[in-house]
Amino acid sequence: MAKDHRPDVNVDSIESYEQAEEAVNELRDAIRYHNHRYYVLDDPEISDSEYDGLMRDLMALEKKFPEIKTEDSPTQRVGGEPREELGTVEHPIPMMSLKTVYEPDDVRSFDRTCRDELGKGDIVYYAELKFDGLAVELVYQEGHLLVASTRGDGQVGEDVSANVRTISQVPLVLRSVEVAPPSRLVVRGEVYITKQDFEELNRKREEEDEGLFANPRNAAAGSLRQLDPSITKQRPLSIFLYQIAEGEDLDIETQRQSLKLLASWGLRTNLERSRICRGVDELLEYHQEMQELRDELPYEIDGVVFKVNSIEDQKRLGSRTRDPRWAIAYKFAPRQATTKLLSVDVQVGRTGRLTPVANLEPVNIGGVEVKRASLHNPSEIERKDIRVGDVVLIERAGDVIPQVVKPIESRRDGSEVSFDFPQSCPVCGTSAVISDDKKSAYCPNIDCPAQVHRRVVHFASRDGMDIEGLGTKRTKQLMDEGLIDSIRDLYHLHFNNLVELERFGEKSAKALLDEIEKSKEKNLASFIYALGIPGVGVATARSLARELETLERIRRATQEELMRVSDIGPEVSSNIALFFAESRNEALVDALLEAGLDLSNPYLEVSEKPLEGLTIVFTGSMERWSRSEAKDFVERLGGKAASSVSGSTDMVVAGPGAGSKLTKAEELGLKIMSEDDFLDFVNKRR
Ligand code: IVH
Repeated sequence: MAKDHRPDVNVDSIESYEQAEEAVNELRDAIRYHNHRYYVLDDPEISDSEYDGLMRDLMALEKKFPEIKTEDSPTQRVGGEPREELGTVEHPIPMMSLKTVYEPDDVRSFDRTCRDELGKGDIVYYAELKFDGLAVELVYQEGHLLVASTRGDGQVGEDVSANVRTISQVPLVLRSVEVAPPSRLVVRGEVYITKQDFEELNRKREEEDEGLFANPRNAAAGSLRQLDPSITKQRPLSIFLYQIAEGEDLDIETQRQSLKLLASWGLRTNLERSRICRGVDELLEYHQEMQELRDELPYEIDGVVFKVNSIEDQKRLGSRTRDPRWAIAYKFAPRQATTKLLSVDVQVGRTGRLTPVANLEPVNIGGVEVKRASLHNPSEIERKDIRVGDVVLIERAGDVIPQVVKPIESRRDGSEVSFDFPQSCPVCGTSAVISDDKKSAYCPNIDCPAQVHRRVVHFASRDGMDIEGLGTKRTKQLMDEGLIDSIRDLYHLHFNNLVELERFGEKSAKALLDEIEKSKEKNLASFIYALGIPGVGVATARSLARELETLERIRRATQEELMRVSDIGPEVSSNIALFFAESRNEALVDALLEAGLDLSNPYLEVSEKPLEGLTIVFTGSMERWSRSEAKDFVERLGGKAASSVSGSTDMVVAGPGAGSKLTKAEELGLKIMSEDDFLDFVNKRR
């Protein structure tokens, strides 16, 4: 193995199986090393393109010598076949839950009981964050990931092995640096989604007109319990491990030592925020501190967990039926508030999905004014019996869209009226199609102006045809004026019609037409994305363009052919095939080609990567971008956007309200710039 973990393999010159084996082993070791640096330590040593190069070499060799492939090769995080239902796994030792408390007095009595039982004056505790995700158990056999399961009822969980294998932060093979992992190791932890990834996921789902997840926990649970692992693979799941449930001959003395061992095997832990606490006052202090830190953390926590640090003392204390006596969860007060539900709007999405949204009397929850909240679907409203005029309980998880938890029935005065979900589309009046379980409602009219509006806006969006100046308002104006009623009309707009419009001068009319003209030169990947096929995001569109190369091949591909494209599973391939089979869509694509779209460039090979090799952290608020847009921007230009400041950060872009990250950057003497400076910097480099 090359010392710097950058093996230099010349794939073309490898002829024999033996040579291949040696090169493959080197490549796999190096990739595992870099995976660990990138996904677990968040401290990469090589650029993404160097990493891609190693992966490409390994894939090429595995293709040339198929018998060399192994299940735990880094190329094999594919997930396997979709299943009818998840299997079950019996936990070797039951997965317990934790007793939950909300008051300092309860912590004091927990401490008292521990002291009494152990006959000690002061107890050393280990305090950890309580991650708000989904508990999982991983079994490693001879260092290789064997099975992964959810908690289930504590005795038997669901087999999510195929899904967990797609999580990059989960090593398929353990490292053995200081202490070798035992031949059989059972560890437990929490799978979660970061706030930023959650926001991004929901933004994409909104764009794709798919239902939104209520909070990161639901998103993590829904993603992990997927029947189709290729869908899980596309979800940004993260993991923290916090417990060794079984590990022969390990001889661990403390909880802290467990975490350190887990980390040494390459498993992701949260040592950084965990802390030794001596006595109850330090526990209460930790709780207070973490509550203050809560909003700044990149992931959701709903409290802290206190564990007796000594494993021997843990054993002495033992367990009750469902929870251990040596640990408790001290939860934060939930971020909820009550307010009045004034009315319900029904929004029409790009593919016609009808989503109910609550209009609320404004209320402040944890410093954020909340006026609207999601009601998800007709079934939710009925199940919870939410009525207009009700005082309702609203919950806000982190930065996410608030949701209506339930009505407060005791506060009804009889004036509340049930909400009848409209039987027809609120925009075009076509009869709505409501599924039997009432979990989804659609407007089936693809000419519905609300749908057309959203489709045009999506078509023109930055990741689509990038027609600057054609946003929500402009598109609506053009539709209201009768100038467009389909995407195809964009390419037949006339200067004379545009200049006459309100807020349109000669200059903006010309600018818009120029932008539209320019969009004809866009690449195939952007065009496929712009069509707005359900489930086809930027990454999928790029895979299609890269692997099938021409529009003709994509639109003629069978579902089986589409399934062979990377990261495309049964659901999305079926959506694509159905989309192109629909005669109106065929006609639209033909009309666009006729209008002069040149799609000969399959996808934008980003030759300009002014930010290549740079890791950038954004902090505070930005004028131009949301956090996820800033991340997109950096990544498009070849850089990496990280969420926390460390020694490997190259620069910090700080806006108003920047806090601890800025302080840390100053301490580390990093380059700090404003948003404008940063743009200048980028522009100078390209
Ligand atoms: S220890 C017997 N540590 O909280 C000890 N649990 O109600 C079992 N959780 O199901 C768990 N963060 O999903 C532990 N640092 C942490 C945790 C944690 C979150 C979850 C876990 C568990 C639930 C307990």
